[in-house]
Amino acid sequence: MKKLGIVSSLALLLPATGAIADEISLVCSAEPEWCELMVAAFEAENPDTDVLMVRKSTGETLAQVRAEAGNPKIDVWWGGTGDPHLIAAEEGLTESSGVDTSELLGWAQNMAKISEGRAIGIYAGALGIAYNSDILSKKGIEPPQCWADLEDSRFAGEIQVANPNSSGTAYTELATFAQLFGEDDAMIKLASIGKNINTYTKSGSAPSRAAARGETGVSIGFMHDMVNLASQGFPLKIVAPCEGTGYEVGAVSMIKGARNPEGAKQWIEFALRADIQSRAPESGSFQVPSNSNAEVAPESPTLASIKLIDYDFATYGSSETRARLLARWDAEVGDPNPQQ
Ligand code: F6P
Repeated sequence: MKKLGIVSSLALLLPATGAIADEISLVCSAEPEWCELMVAAFEAENPDTDVLMVRKSTGETLAQVRAEAGNPKIDVWWGGTGDPHLIAAEEGLTESSGVDTSELLGWAQNMAKISEGRAIGIYAGALGIAYNSDILSKKGIEPPQCWADLEDSRFAGEIQVANPNSSGTAYTELATFAQLFGEDDAMIKLASIGKNINTYTKSGSAPSRAAARGETGVSIGFMHDMVNLASQGFPLKIVAPCEGTGYEVGAVSMIKGARNPEGAKQWIEFALRADIQSRAPESGSFQVPSNSNAEVAPESPTLASIKLIDYDFATYGSSETRARLLARWDAEVGDPNPQQ
């Protein structure tokens, strides 16, 4: 039988501990290009650390964090709409990293306040409608100006949006409708828009990509994602709906029981820095950054010029409200062909 000396026994033990300390397991719910830029920038500053990154939509990540409660595989969750981050905080699935938030704008600090430091705001962006002007003019369809227009039969089979179970963008839409019209009317309106929907996608930005490529006439999503596509030359026009619209505060959270809490904290501090947030446009991400000293790209939609609702993050970022709204959406709107 092979006998292990003390050195080899230690060698068996050490890599396990060392490997964990030098690896950060990250789930990224922003656009893949930005996720990759962030990982490369972090690793360039910290050459001894590997960031193991997976891109997942916000609702999908919440489901994973819930499923792994007590034995988490993720250290830090960066990006994605704030409501599911607030829900994870409320359910005790994330914890405060104690990082300094004093440079952040009020809406980002508000997220930290609601969640007792567990979810911190990293960016903001408004929800809107986009349409492919070539497609609509070829088909002789009058472009939409309001949410109500999307209920019209002229858009039959022309609209794409994500499924609010998987996508934070689509949950923001659901919560926005509930706040604009009341819960009952929201379901009626979403069901009537539903008659015109060709596909409910998993990810929130997929519908606008499809509209840019001419695979659908109209998309619902975040305006910053639409701006990115329009700035690449796609014939995409962006509409701030006449009734008003909701917005997201994207967030970062440290997972409770993270195997590498120090690494998670280091990532959060890095992600809140002005110089790091200022680099988002390099990857085509045009959200408004949360650090008051970060540069705002000229392409970023100006939130002050959009009719925004006073989005109630405490209510719509609560477990109970999300569970109720999603159950009602499944029953009263529903996705006839859910994507696996
Ligand atoms: O493209 C990035 C983005 O729009 C973020 O601003 C947002 O937080 C995220 O996507 C939401 O993604 P999903 O809807 O897939 O959860």
